[in-house]
Amino acid sequence: MNIKPEARKIECDFSKAKINWIPRDPELAQFWNAVSIGLPLLEGYLIRALAKSKKLLPEGREDLYADCELFCKQEANHSKTHMQFNDMVRASGFYPDMDRFTDKLTADYERFDREGGLRAAMLYAEGFETAGPIFANYFLVQANKRLKDEDVDLITLSLWRWHLSEEFEHRCCAFNVVEALYGTYWGRLGGIIKATCHLVGFAVPLSEYMLAQDLKAGRITGGFKGLIRKTKSYSGMFFFIVPRILRAFSPWYNPINLKEPKGCEEVLIVASETLDLNKMAARARETA
Ligand SMILES: [Fe+2]
Ligand SMILES: [Fe+2]
Repeated sequence: MNIKPEARKIECDFSKAKINWIPRDPELAQFWNAVSIGLPLLEGYLIRALAKSKKLLPEGREDLYADCELFCKQEANHSKTHMQFNDMVRASGFYPDMDRFTDKLTADYERFDREGGLRAAMLYAEGFETAGPIFANYFLVQANKRLKDEDVDLITLSLWRWHLSEEFEHRCCAFNVVEALYGTYWGRLGGIIKATCHLVGFAVPLSEYMLAQDLKAGRITGGFKGLIRKTKSYSGMFFFIVPRILRAFSPWYNPINLKEPKGCEEVLIVASETLDLNKMAARARETA
């Protein structure tokens, strides 16, 4: 990437954003909505881990210290913006039991903090950050296709494109910190498995609940058509993401070598120029 990494504090107004932001694929939209709802808690856990770890880095690693600072600022910006999206979802009143899921996630991270310690938190962070650039790749590919759907909500789409492009941008930070502090191959694999299972274990039940509420209220159609849609979107994600996660199990894996997802740099350039999600949405088609 030719642009300088930076923390972009993004303005946004979600009042016109849609919960069902991919009307032709509501199951996919609700899966990502569920991830969004959990992200501020997850990213909070990562920020705490990196903020502590940067103080323990060996002498002479000012470069990595600066990366940790950028990481924490970017993740804090992501969380803040997702919280605004999540507030819009919560304020709809469509999903009254939503907080039951986030309460459980809060309790999980409190337990991890209490019982796991910094090493476990860093391995989890590294595991999650391994999935970040894969999601970025998947999402930018899907997003490019989705830009052709006239009815897709470009505000929510732009939220994910910006967030995941920054995930690609800071993909090496947690990996390099773990290498500097612990240098553990098996620990890295354990972190990938734990973080992925934990995220999926949160997002799938929540998205199922949200879809059930949508069906009950008649906001989406279910039946055979719904089942086909869901099978297509879930298997599409599975077959894209899982082989790439498995590739990261290689002892020679290093996120520095990952190929930049198509459109990533363009998304970040527009994000830096506008610092505004609504303006990014207005320009979304020029970065496709
Ligand atoms: Fe993030
Ligand atoms: Fe990240």
